[in-house]
Amino acid sequence: MTSRLASRLLNWYRLQGRTLPWRGHPDPYAVWVSEIMLQQTRVEAVIPYFEKWMRLFPTVKELAGASEQDVLNAWEGLGYYSRARNLHKASKIVVEKHGGELPRDLKALRELPGIGRYTVGAIASIAFNMDEPTLDGNLRRVFARLFDVSEAADSPAGEKILWNLTAGHLPRGQAGDYNQALMDLGATICLPRNPRCLLCPLMEICEARANGTQEQRPVLKPRKETPFFTHAAGVMTMNGKVLLAKRPSKGLLGGMWEFPNGRVDGEPAEELESALEAGYQLKVRTGEALVTVQHAYTHFRVMVHAFRCELVNTSANENLKWVKLEEMADYPMGKVDRQIARVLHG
Ligand code: ADE
Repeated sequence: MTSRLASRLLNWYRLQGRTLPWRGHPDPYAVWVSEIMLQQTRVEAVIPYFEKWMRLFPTVKELAGASEQDVLNAWEGLGYYSRARNLHKASKIVVEKHGGELPRDLKALRELPGIGRYTVGAIASIAFNMDEPTLDGNLRRVFARLFDVSEAADSPAGEKILWNLTAGHLPRGQAGDYNQALMDLGATICLPRNPRCLLCPLMEICEARANGTQEQRPVLKPRKETPFFTHAAGVMTMNGKVLLAKRPSKGLLGGMWEFPNGRVDGEPAEELESALEAGYQLKVRTGEALVTVQHAYTHFRVMVHAFRCELVNTSANENLKWVKLEEMADYPMGKVDRQIARVLHG
């Protein structure tokens, strides 16, 4: 039997659900791509990237055959670049092991890089209409409020409670709509602050609303303060080319390009030369200050001071490359370095 919660929710979704380019898409690959892009990223930001991606890599096979540089380039600006690297890796596995078709099997899905418990539930229910629950940040908030859950929603105990609550109300045969309705409700009505309870189809059955605790739900574990780092970067040009460095393939911004840089503790202008010598065996003389760029990553914030530099002695470091100024756009970069690159273009 469909619960009161699910039937109200599904009625609301039929009328108010958002029209999105991956909804009703016949290819499970499209659902997969959308779910990876939507991790930690808002629907509005994802839509143009999704459309461009499907033009560039319309099938799993075409994605598997693309270069990492092209894949990272298509992802540039979305952040969390390991998502793109994992999607690329997983596409090769799907071609090699599953004949180019995303497997209709929970265990096989879960074994693909970048697909965790949340994504398995989303893909299985939306692409394959399997009776699977899922739990992302939006659903977590919705259920923590509907059942006034006081356990920390990001603790193992709290997560278990919330997974059980969503699984317990799942309407058979309609899990895809149910999960997407909850995502839409979380994104448009059950907002983190100032939830729009008066517009909510579940207002009458919401326990937090009844208890007046909706602003205190979900309870989350206290966050550690994010550290703040200062970096200095060197911009070296010669004969219409600029010196870029490729980051290691694993970790933050893995495989992306940047201006040679290093962390500094004191004055950036004074420490840049020793930072580049230590990091790249580059000998430079620091010139004029070009631009200062700030960025907040998930676990820390940085301020990067970029300076023009004169090269005194070149380096054999294999991660360094002279790139034509007009070809910089072909080299995937994070937000900070793309902003520095823009200054060079004037
Ligand atoms: N967030 C994550 N997946 C989503 C989906 N399929 N629709 C809307 N928002 C989402």
